[in-house]
Amino acid sequence: MTPILEVKSLSKTFGSVTAAADINVSVKVGERVGLIGTNGAGKTTFVNMVTGYIKPDRGTILLQGRDITGQSPRYITRAGVCRSFQIPQLFLGLTAEENLVVAIGIATGRALAPHASPDAPDTRGAVEDLLSRFRLGEYRHRVVSELPGGVRKLLDIAVAVTRKPKLLLLDEPTSGVASEQKFALMDIVMEALPDDVTVLFVEHDMDIVSRYSDRVLAFYDGRIISDAHPSVVLSDPQVKSYITGAAN
Ligand SMILES: Nc1ncnc2c1ncn2[C@@H]1O[C@H](COP(=O)(O)OP(=O)(O)OP(=O)(O)O)[C@@H](O)[C@H]1O
Ligand SMILES: [Mg+2]
Repeated sequence: MTPILEVKSLSKTFGSVTAAADINVSVKVGERVGLIGTNGAGKTTFVNMVTGYIKPDRGTILLQGRDITGQSPRYITRAGVCRSFQIPQLFLGLTAEENLVVAIGIATGRALAPHASPDAPDTRGAVEDLLSRFRLGEYRHRVVSELPGGVRKLLDIAVAVTRKPKLLLLDEPTSGVASEQKFALMDIVMEALPDDVTVLFVEHDMDIVSRYSDRVLAFYDGRIISDAHPSVVLSDPQVKSYITGAAN
């Protein structure tokens, strides 16, 4: 089966900083992949290149065999790749429900149509489905600026999912969320996504990485220094010494 994502020789520098150095990765449909690495290791740069927010200096990015290298975020989103950001990108003055209505309007191309209405039966159905899958029902009428960080994170991911992605990239879905709430948040996200949606998520908490990924990519200085099952990556001496700080 063609990999959902294939990245070959991907490189990017910012001045004298090497943010990506010859990255090669092939991801199968449905894999749940954790991206780890210290601050500045190149995780977000990788996500930005795959989603079109940054153009690589060199290399190729294939989505199901189709070359998407250097395409715009809009093009790549339409091709089936969605993302969330380290800081949620939501309309702070709108309610949770209104944010979903707007996102669905944009995703379905109806936002600008004169007959667009949040009460259209299919929009309403899609909103209810997302509120339920992401356990956001009780927050539906609250404005985003008043919502707790974890709920904003869930809403931001629900917004990304309005486009029914094949490949979803989550940049630190649990950052800013209290440690005792991180597992609950990830349980909701993973249960909300169909099995054939491939997920790459950036994460600093190794307990979360171990629990929710079936494969881990360890970034260090713009390179992938380990790529394997979490138990293998997290016991790798280089990963322990450069990234997790775990005792050898
Ligand atoms: N737009 C940019 N302009 C200049 N330098 C950048 C830019 N984006 C990233 N960098 C640099 O590239 C390197 C990799 O950054 P990146 O944001 O990918 O790291 P990261 O692994 O996501 O780190 P963190 O865990 O802190 O989010 C860093 O040295 C960063 O300062
Ligand atoms: Mg980052």
